[in-house]
Amino acid sequence: MNNELNAGLEGVIAAETTLSYIDGNDGVLLLGGYNVENLAGHTSVEDVCALLWTGELATVEQRAQLQRRLAAGRAAGYELLAHIGDALDHDDGMAALRSGLAHLRQDDPATVVGATATIAAAWWRARNGQAALAPDQHTYHAADYYRMASGRTASEATARALATYLVTVSDHGLNASTFTARTVASTGSDIVSAVVAAIGALKGPLHGGAPGPVLDMIVAIASEDRAEPWLRDRLANGERIMGMGHRVYRVRDPRAAVFETAAADLGSGRIALARHVEAEASRLLAERHPGRPLRANVEFYTAVLLDAIGLQPAQFAPTFAVGRVVGWCAHVAEQVRSGRLIRPRARYIGPPPRRRPPQRSASSS
Ligand code: COA
Repeated sequence: MNNELNAGLEGVIAAETTLSYIDGNDGVLLLGGYNVENLAGHTSVEDVCALLWTGELATVEQRAQLQRRLAAGRAAGYELLAHIGDALDHDDGMAALRSGLAHLRQDDPATVVGATATIAAAWWRARNGQAALAPDQHTYHAADYYRMASGRTASEATARALATYLVTVSDHGLNASTFTARTVASTGSDIVSAVVAAIGALKGPLHGGAPGPVLDMIVAIASEDRAEPWLRDRLANGERIMGMGHRVYRVRDPRAAVFETAAADLGSGRIALARHVEAEASRLLAERHPGRPLRANVEFYTAVLLDAIGLQPAQFAPTFAVGRVVGWCAHVAEQVRSGRLIRPRARYIGPPPRRRPPQRSASSS
């Protein structure tokens, strides 16, 4: 038996997938066989559901059908709100999403995807003392999520930018949350359990929790001349620069370019400063780690794009979940088809076998 330790499972192939392909050296990401740059801006969440759940982009009829199914899922999420007590009563949107979604009883992907958007939107409104808004069954998923969360109807440009975001993050290989979802699914458990567990994994700052801090960083830096000293200071304190570095990419994350363009198209007022901070961070990290390329990851321009769309930093991680849940559901189905329990081993480094423990009665203190 191989006893070699690989603590972060780096480079380990633990599943086969047809969903996404990543080339970390050349900065390539394919979703359902399409370059992410070619999907973004031209496809809806409904389209990418079809792509990841059936292997092909939706026909006109399939798109209309998926639009109805996701709308019904959003409605199921809305009905759930009356029965979940104070489950959304968290400052942290990911904690609210985890608690709220755990109550869902319908276990099909379209309901889970739809309900995720409603609950994420309702949490934000509850946090601001506002009642949840009912979904609109005639609207596409991205635009309806925006409306339910903000109370405003999305302009065409905003709806396109948000769809670009949600489509682009819909899947990304065997990242930590997707691996979590597949592990839960591999035990024969249900979709809701797999998605709730995945939300727990996505919540961490090393995975989906980075974009809020990225925006905080850009706001704190405030002007180009302050970028270098600010970043040097953080690095000298042993802190990580959020939005930089990636486990798989050794070049700039291709999704960063998609979001940078989308944010610029939307007229983001932060784009020039963000580009400067990225350039300075890349330069300083290259100085510090000459052998380890640490370039902008997806979260860097997620912060700039979601801010330009008009979402608040606290909404960034839940919005990531609203997009990624499409991929989680696809991976759950793929894992179930593989029929294989995921069960790695741990290398034991505890004490050698000891003598029997002293015999005590169970009631003695
Ligand atoms: N800022 C500063 N240093 C960084 C860094 C960052 N963003 N990312 C990695 N490093 C350093 C590590 O401290 C480590 O230094 P050491 O060798 O002196 O200990 C070295 O680079 C190698 O990093 P490693 O921990 O092996 O990388 P990883 O593959 O485990 O980590 C991330 C990948 C994404 C977790 C990591 O780059 C990171 O923490 N980034 C910031 C958080 C973030 O943006 N997360 C979103 C990911 S999409």
